[in-house]
Amino acid sequence: MFKTLNETLEAYQRRDPAARSKLEILLLYQGVHAVLYHRVAHWLYCKNWRFLARWVSQWSRFWTGIEIHPGATIGRRLVIDHGMGIVIGETAEVGDDCLIYHGVTLGGTGKDQGKRHPTIGNNVLISCGAKVLGPFKVGDNSRIAANAVVLSEVPDDATAVGIPAQIVRIAGRTTHFADEVDQTSVENPTLEKLAALAERVEQLEQQLAKQNK
Ligand SMILES: CC(C)(COP(=O)(O)OP(=O)(O)OC[C@H]1O[C@@H](n2cnc3c(N)ncnc32)[C@H](O)[C@@H]1OP(=O)(O)O)[C@@H](O)C(=O)NCCC(=O)NCCS
Repeated sequence: MFKTLNETLEAYQRRDPAARSKLEILLLYQGVHAVLYHRVAHWLYCKNWRFLARWVSQWSRFWTGIEIHPGATIGRRLVIDHGMGIVIGETAEVGDDCLIYHGVTLGGTGKDQGKRHPTIGNNVLISCGAKVLGPFKVGDNSRIAANAVVLSEVPDDATAVGIPAQIVRIAGRTTHFADEVDQTSVENPTLEKLAALAERVEQLEQQLAKQNK
């Protein structure tokens, strides 16, 4: 348990340039407190002590502004920066080494039953204000932009941006393939065909002229 806590504090030091000593992070960062409370709430939830589990999670929400349902599965070294206004739903799963900012919702759309919330891969960044809604996967190493609303699967190494979110980068490369087309130097295709036909007719006329000599 201490090892897990220590690696989480180290993750805060790595990811938050403003973070200083581990003691300061442990005492003052509500993201750390919310995850610690969640570990207790999740343990109670798994033992089927649902009321107590919910009580711990509501207590945590009151103190931290971060609401993690006791049923949610949270991986190791999660960093919640700034906290406040974060909601993580019952069937949400968050992988290892993720970074979540304030105002993030990992929620449902209201259209699904059973598994209703997203599965977040490892090393995923979910920027401030982003909403990830539905029971789909967000791939490893992906980035969700600030204020994006993600409604469908995100592949590994992708950047999702906008409302509804579009994949604009995969492994740092743009997915706006249309933007890569050279539109300024493209000739008129009809004129190109006519020119090719005219050339062909000329060749045939020259061949005929030779034969008739
Ligand atoms: C998405 C983000 C993580 C950058 O990821 P990236 O993979 O490096 O993506 P890029 O910066 O190359 O941006 C890709 C494209 O998305 C656009 N974009 C980036 N963030 C955007 C956003 N939040 N909303 C809309 N468009 C956005 C960029 O302008 C760029 O557009 P282009 O393809 O037309 O050039 C970053 O822009 C972001 O949103 N960070 C927020 C982090 C945060 O929450 N900070 C709070 C600290 S308190």
